[in-house]
Amino acid sequence: MNQTITNFSKERYLSTDYAAREWDAMWTETWLFAGLASDVAKPGDYFLFNIGVESIIVTRTKTGDVAAFYNVCKHRGNRLVRPENHIGCAEKFRCPYHAWTYDLDGSLRTVPDRHRFSNGLPEDKLSLSPLSLEIWHGLIFISMSDAPVPFNEFMGPITDELAPYHLDKLTLVADQSCSHNCNWKAMLDNFAELYHVDFIHPLHKTFVDCPNAEVEFYDHGHTLVRVQGGTVNPRYPIPDEPTDMMKAQLSSLGVNPAEYDGRVLDVREAIQKQKRDLDGKHGYDYSGLSDAQLSDIWQYNLFPNIILAVTPEFTWIMRAMPHPTDPQKAYFEKFDLAMFADPDLMNESPSTADDAPVHFVAGGAKPTDYKRPERDYFDHDEIIAGNKTMTVTIDEDIHLLGEVQAGMRSKGFEQVWLSDDEMRVQHLHNHLDAMIERGV
Ligand code: FES
Ligand SMILES: [Fe+2]
Repeated sequence: MNQTITNFSKERYLSTDYAAREWDAMWTETWLFAGLASDVAKPGDYFLFNIGVESIIVTRTKTGDVAAFYNVCKHRGNRLVRPENHIGCAEKFRCPYHAWTYDLDGSLRTVPDRHRFSNGLPEDKLSLSPLSLEIWHGLIFISMSDAPVPFNEFMGPITDELAPYHLDKLTLVADQSCSHNCNWKAMLDNFAELYHVDFIHPLHKTFVDCPNAEVEFYDHGHTLVRVQGGTVNPRYPIPDEPTDMMKAQLSSLGVNPAEYDGRVLDVREAIQKQKRDLDGKHGYDYSGLSDAQLSDIWQYNLFPNIILAVTPEFTWIMRAMPHPTDPQKAYFEKFDLAMFADPDLMNESPSTADDAPVHFVAGGAKPTDYKRPERDYFDHDEIIAGNKTMTVTIDEDIHLLGEVQAGMRSKGFEQVWLSDDEMRVQHLHNHLDAMIERGV
């Protein structure tokens, strides 16, 4: 897929007019990641997906289906579920205002003083308004569009590429939401290029090779970058022995780094081989993954606002959310998901040569006292003050992004000027432009 550099103007990051067009032509027309299927595991489980001016209830009905409805009472428009109750389990949804109640499938169930509605209570008009919904590898997507692109077409080949990771078997281990003073696209742009990595992420050169990353472009605005892991950045001198990050990776797989006598540049292959040897022994199923997938980080940017970074044991879903009214603000959200070993298989598993138990990067078996982590809401100031972290790397990005937005406001800046290494940024904006042009 050929990309042409268009060096788009800064207005798209600043103007409320552009944000309004984005809402009408894109956010309300595309597919959006709403949350995790594991959060609606049993009938009555629900969560809210709040985006822009909308709030959407995703719930599992009594018949076991997962459904999505606008979170608005059909009587006089009150929100049914308040933001502080954004996740839970309900018998029914009861409006706090005049106590109309709705079944889990959205149908209007009870109305106080029903006989006082002389104009009737037609159920087809007064049941909650549903949205299109798809479950994809354990992730729930919704669309507000009346005629969304067919979901399979939207995801294209990415569906099959992700299948061997078994994302539906992952467990949520952290859930964070950080408010920030930049446009949501500035966040996406940041995660759509590795050009900045050498300059603001000093640790990366000790465990990944960003300069040689490979990029793919898909229809509908998605992109992929494949970054080799278990290696070092070859733009810097190759160290004499594996870096601390590489040693940690080796020992997490049961390889004693002190006994590793291969070349530093062969650690990646050693990781791949060790995972092949361990395949199936702890309940980890590596069988469908390529050698590269075993050792590397594959990061999909799913249009419009999702960064899905996958490895066999850990996946991070990051989401940039538009602010309801201010295009110069956004929320950055992160779901950390771990592939835990099967505890039964852990017990039977062989130990390493020095008889130490094998501990995987994912931390071994799921803790018996596991509880879904509560969503932690905070502001980017908390990260800058060092009170909160979203990983060292993301903290480094967050430190910078407010300054990008501030700079864009300047009279001394007119348009972004992209390099060939920022083509994934271009691809996102091209698809956004296409949707906005169609919607005009
Ligand atoms: S607005 Fe919900 S019952 Fe009146
Ligand atoms: Fe970064």
